[in-house]
Amino acid sequence: MSAPARISASILAADFARLGDQIQLVEESGCDEIHFDVMDGHFVPAISFGVVVLESIRDLTSLPIDVHMMVTEPGRFAVQFADAGADIFTVHAEACSDLSATVADIVEGGMRPGISINPSTETSAVNRYTASVDRFLVMSVEPGFGGQSLMPEVLPKIEELRSAARHSGSEIEIAVDGGVKVENSAAVLSAGADTLISGTGIFNYPDGMAAAVRQIKSL
Ligand code: DX5
Ligand code: ZN
Repeated sequence: MSAPARISASILAADFARLGDQIQLVEESGCDEIHFDVMDGHFVPAISFGVVVLESIRDLTSLPIDVHMMVTEPGRFAVQFADAGADIFTVHAEACSDLSATVADIVEGGMRPGISINPSTETSAVNRYTASVDRFLVMSVEPGFGGQSLMPEVLPKIEELRSAARHSGSEIEIAVDGGVKVENSAAVLSAGADTLISGTGIFNYPDGMAAAVRQIKSL
């Protein structure tokens, strides 16, 4: 049997009036990581939150925090987010004019680098990075908003990235982000993902987040 799925809670779906309690709920529900969506109103249409919010939650949790930068030229902010306590810093291939230099900046800042691709971006744009980053993040919705439906047509990209990784001897993590719910988790995992990023799917699960996490981890 393979290891249980790693679950990363996207706090974009949290109630920000009581963010501290929501972080505690994420921990108590058995999530493995916090997913922190940064949007700049340029790479994506919406604006979300940034470094000051990360600073205020950092001391509330020992879970790793993955900062998902939906931001044009995200390398500009690597030092600030590293100083605020980001563990993983995931950038979009489409947003970087020099992706290799951006990855180098992330490593230099002491964070684990991740690369994300939009639904329309082919894996050939990033598979040469299998040995130099810790995570690929496959977007299963157009980035910019929570609560959209997963696009099943992106799932074959996971296996393509997995096989590129095998080829280079890398044990990279492959995460899927967007529309992941209890009901479609089995399909996402059997496509080869090991990390499921979920916002509304776990925050709004009718039986509560802990039940959602338990069900996904039992798959
Ligand atoms: C979308 C974000 C996602 C989003 C996921 O642009 O990158 O992380 O919060 O939310 P759900 O799980 O509700 O689709
Ligand atoms: Zn995200």
